[in-house]
Amino acid sequence: MRTTHEHDGPALVVRGLRRTFPAPEVRALRGVDLDVAHGEFVALMGPSGSGKSTLLHLVAGLDRPDEGTVELAGTRTDDLGSAALARLRRRHIGLVFQFFHLIDHLSALENVALAALVAGVKPAAATARAGELLDSLGLLDRQNARPGALSGGQRQRVAIARALVNRPTVLLADEPTGALDSEGQAEVLDLFTRLHAEGQTILLVTHASEVAAAADRVVRMRDGQVVDHGRPAAVEPLVVAPAPVVAVRPAPARTAS
Ligand SMILES: Nc1ncnc2c1ncn2[C@@H]1O[C@H](COP(=O)(O)OP(=O)(O)OP(=O)(O)O)[C@@H](O)[C@H]1O
Ligand SMILES: [Mg+2]
Repeated sequence: MRTTHEHDGPALVVRGLRRTFPAPEVRALRGVDLDVAHGEFVALMGPSGSGKSTLLHLVAGLDRPDEGTVELAGTRTDDLGSAALARLRRRHIGLVFQFFHLIDHLSALENVALAALVAGVKPAAATARAGELLDSLGLLDRQNARPGALSGGQRQRVAIARALVNRPTVLLADEPTGALDSEGQAEVLDLFTRLHAEGQTILLVTHASEVAAAADRVVRMRDGQVVDHGRPAAVEPLVVAPAPVVAVRPAPARTAS
């Protein structure tokens, strides 16, 4: 996993992001600010239609904002041309979706290796890296299976391996456990927890409180805005005031009624 950072700032900085879809006009994002530190695991929650997927797509460079900026590992991405954006996306972004989007006629290993090939890694190195990743995710014995022969949890682990194969700065996941049974959810949640412990920066959309509980911080959206940045209490400056002197009397004994 990533242990050194190419710059000292946050992994992701979003400022004033706005996105309106036309006909009928939907103001999906109405000025979103978000910072994600290197190594941080942030869960993004909020009602359906609040703009979570739209935000993830803009961070991933799959869509363009009408206003505002996105900075990945210190580089502005919102104003890049499409070729430069594609390069930056391959280098800095790993994407995981609810419905896996694996290629059915390729094996697990080939699905993962393909993402490395597309990024310009030589075939032998791509296959080796894909094999190592599947091994570390407990899928070595399933590496030659096609997605159709895998459980939902296994498919999502393959999709996560694919997202990680180019060692992205940020792993983005949009409801990665949304289509899984409870066993699959637990499998995938364990994996995100482990990746986080190894230093992977993660921004993950979820409706599941069990999944959000694994994150360092829960950011909440509503109506296209962040309504709660969920800063952990430990970040607040600790004010050590002298304790007031309070006479503590024992509570009066209750009389049985
Ligand atoms: N390509 C699009 N064209 C038009 N409207 C869109 C498009 N994508 C999203 N929207 C609208 O933007 C709003 C935000 O959608 P978004 O998909 O970001 O919500 P979400 O928070 O991910 O919801 P969910 O929890 O249901 O996935 C919704 O009203 C949606 O209908
Ligand atoms: Mg969504």
